[in-house]
Amino acid sequence: MTEEPLLLTTRGTWIEAMVWSLPGIVPSIALWATGLASATEAFVGMLGALVIAGLLAWWRHRQLVPLVAWLERLRIGRSVTGAVPDSFLYRQLPHPLLAIERETQNLRRQVAASDQLQRALVDAITDPVLVVDGRGYVRLANPAAERHFADKLTDQPLGRFLRDPAILAAIDSAIRANVSSTVSFSPPLDRTRRYTCGIQPMLTREGDAAAVLSLRETSEQVAIERMRSDFIANASHELRTPLTALAGFVETLKGPAKNDPDAQAMFLDTMDAEASRMTRLIDDLLSLSKLEADVHRPPSEDVDLADVVALAISGLEPQLRKNATVVEARMEDGPLQVRGDADQLQQLVANLIDNASKYGRPGAPVVVDVARLSPAGDEAGPLSGRTAIRLTVIDQGDGIAPEHLPRLTERFYRVDKSRSRRAGGTGLGLAISKHIIRRHGGHLNVESDLGIGSRFSVFIPAR
Ligand SMILES: Nc1ncnc2c1ncn2[C@@H]1O[C@H](COP(=O)(O)OP(=O)(O)O)[C@@H](O)[C@H]1O
Ligand SMILES: [Mg+2]
Repeated sequence: MTEEPLLLTTRGTWIEAMVWSLPGIVPSIALWATGLASATEAFVGMLGALVIAGLLAWWRHRQLVPLVAWLERLRIGRSVTGAVPDSFLYRQLPHPLLAIERETQNLRRQVAASDQLQRALVDAITDPVLVVDGRGYVRLANPAAERHFADKLTDQPLGRFLRDPAILAAIDSAIRANVSSTVSFSPPLDRTRRYTCGIQPMLTREGDAAAVLSLRETSEQVAIERMRSDFIANASHELRTPLTALAGFVETLKGPAKNDPDAQAMFLDTMDAEASRMTRLIDDLLSLSKLEADVHRPPSEDVDLADVVALAISGLEPQLRKNATVVEARMEDGPLQVRGDADQLQQLVANLIDNASKYGRPGAPVVVDVARLSPAGDEAGPLSGRTAIRLTVIDQGDGIAPEHLPRLTERFYRVDKSRSRRAGGTGLGLAISKHIIRRHGGHLNVESDLGIGSRFSVFIPAR
């Protein structure tokens, strides 16, 4: 496309006038040369031909001026509507010109709409998206990119924001070799984060090679993936331990203890205990997976926490008797109702009382205190300021060191592994409890003093 404006040249008009005057000039010269006309007559004839041809050429030129002006407006994108030239010389022109005008306007509208659509699509993407040109400058950045880099990016060198050599190399091959690629990287200042960047070659409207970059943070996915594989490894390990013990005892019973009834009775007791441990572990794993599936389905029963506590205590009777634990239930008078799932709440309270009994001092009392708070204080976390039921289980045990508190609800996390195993723990009780509390829109607060004891408080919105 030429950048020169369209103009009618004066030189063209002169040449045209000269050519058109030839039929007058040539006979004039011939008449003079053959002596049929004097020099003056020939000169007047030539001059007349020149003037008439000049006027004709000028008139034709004038006729073309509006057409050229129209084409020029069309070329530079100005409105041509209503300005279609109409002239004596080109009567048929308005029809095709109007068609061109309509077509051009349509195309311009389509280009504008597609530009707008493109921009809206890029802006709606919640991941950062950038277009980088061959000089390494950002040509376009969506709002997510500007939020991510906390800066205006357009017309700035990309290297100022993203310096990863693998990304720069991938951009280079996209622009120079038309190759698309995906690169994972961590920013140098924060190695805990992980990003994946897709790089795609493209052509700008001017036909220059460029690259589109789309960035996605994958730190969370990587962490979830790691948690998942840790969980599988832990669960398999926990299941294999009792299984290995069982297999060992079976071997012994078939071999050395084949004819020893005393040893057989002892081994069978241990095998029974190991089998029960496996059953508990599998029950807990199933509970956990069911809770995870239900976490976004809020419970819908009306449940009185006083009933829940009474049922939980009676269900734990044999275990409490074994540890010589006395549970003292302190129920506030008045309604202690929540919207909940009675079975799950009973499981939660049983987990907390079970822990207090297992990790408390033998024979020391365990207090279960249930009260209605209106409003709840800061220890209720997100429920503070609202009306909530607080259920606290207080024990007199060794307590828990502060560094363990934030990790207690992780699956298989135990402060003292062998103590938990000896007490028959699976390491999943508090993880299950956390999920139950989350499903009830509640909050768990743990306070503990080494050598004195622990207080596990659950806050649930009151009905
Ligand atoms: N009341 C408590 N006093 C001291 N430690 C506790 C108490 N409750 C829980 N813990 C610690 O938290 C860990 C995780 O508890 P939990 O998830 O119920 O698993 P488990 O009881 O099966 O070991 C326990 O192993 C224990 O170390
Ligand atoms: Mg437990």
